Amino acid sequence: MGSQKTPDMSRVPEHVPADLVRTIGLTMGPEFLAAPHAFMADLHRTQPPIFFNPAEAEQAKDAWMLTKYEDCYYVLRHPEIFSTRGATPFPRDPDNPFKFIPLEIDPPYHRRYRNILAPIFSPQGVGALEGYIRDLANTLIDEFVDKGECEFTTDFGRPLPVSVFLDLMGLPQEMRDEFVSWAVGLLHSQDRSVAEQSMMSIVTYLQQVIREKSENPDDKVISTIIQAKPDGQPMTGQEIFGFVLFLFIGGLDTVFATLNNVFLWLAQNPERRREIIDSPDNISNIVEELLRANAVTFSGRTVEQDCELRGVKMKKDDKVTCILPAANFDADIFDNPLEVNFHRPRKPILSFAGGVHSCMGAHLARLEMKVCITEFLRRIPDFQVKQGARIEYWPGGVIGPKSLPLTW
Ligand code: HEM
Repeated sequence: MGSQKTPDMSRVPEHVPADLVRTIGLTMGPEFLAAPHAFMADLHRTQPPIFFNPAEAEQAKDAWMLTKYEDCYYVLRHPEIFSTRGATPFPRDPDNPFKFIPLEIDPPYHRRYRNILAPIFSPQGVGALEGYIRDLANTLIDEFVDKGECEFTTDFGRPLPVSVFLDLMGLPQEMRDEFVSWAVGLLHSQDRSVAEQSMMSIVTYLQQVIREKSENPDDKVISTIIQAKPDGQPMTGQEIFGFVLFLFIGGLDTVFATLNNVFLWLAQNPERRREIIDSPDNISNIVEELLRANAVTFSGRTVEQDCELRGVKMKKDDKVTCILPAANFDADIFDNPLEVNFHRPRKPILSFAGGVHSCMGAHLARLEMKVCITEFLRRIPDFQVKQGARIEYWPGGVIGPKSLPLTW
């Protein structure tokens, strides 16, 4: 591949065979950024199913890379071998370390934490939000429908999941612009000081909110976490903070990026928009297939005990990255995987990972996708990418276009 660089062998542990070492520029390289999903689908042709990537890139840092569905599925379902210890790439203050909860807790304790929010994130729990999400989508569309154009990412893709998140958490909607700017600063700034400043603002704000809600609880997510006793005891301040912060990190950018990818595809496929509008009864399959073809993130794990996968020997403390978008394009599981087929036989997609840590927000994310696609196409059935606009992607661990100017 053009972007394959000479690997830095000083980063490669001794037990890794030299012929499995590949530096491919995942999440950062020019070929990835030109067309990320095509690049990841192509990994099945261009790379071995398991290879070692010695690189600085956050999601791919000095880790085994897995592209096959079957291998990712296995890793995600064996937390006793592949732990989430140290699985997230976010730097933390070594003097004041905290865990991202529930992701960084392994079984058996994991379930106690996850159960705290299970009713809120169940299909029934999130179903109660449908009317709210529909109204919100329409209020955002009202702002631009008569203009004949919008910048989808800032006018719709970003504010919608942030408003839903604020509602779930029990935070004031007036914080929306602030949250948008923190999320952009933390997750997308190329300038480290901006990312640090955003993190500080989030930390200060969340700590203040946690204090306030400890005194005046409501029935929303933050208060539910504060009042929970997973071990028979209330959680420590640090645990509460790690839980709330992870929801912010895990729940905002993922929906944003998925919406942006899906609406780019819709803008480029007029006859498929018509198909969606004409088949309201098939909307769940449509959403599932669009999520399969537009997976936005990865699952990182740390090897807990020496093991072997597909004949490749892995050692304790090795890092493993499941390239979930590539797994969704595995032709052994999904026939003709690059085709977007709304009548595909149902098989579990890996966009939300799988196993004990499968995404807790998956029902909510599916609902947000369903409502946004339905309402946008109802109000604006015909649209295209603005002439002359160049689509560029964010580098990093959540894949999506930076901006998406649409006209109609
Ligand atoms: C389309 C949108 C979303 C995508 C693609 C997505 C993707 C994922 C993935 C891949 C994981 C597993 C991570 C791993 O295995 O290392 C995960 C976990 C998680 N996600 Fe999501 N997510 C989305 C939306 C949300 C939302 C809206 C929320 C909540 C507000 C959320 C909360 C969580 C939580 C709490 C976990 C950890 C679950 C556990 O460890 O038990 N996600 N998500």
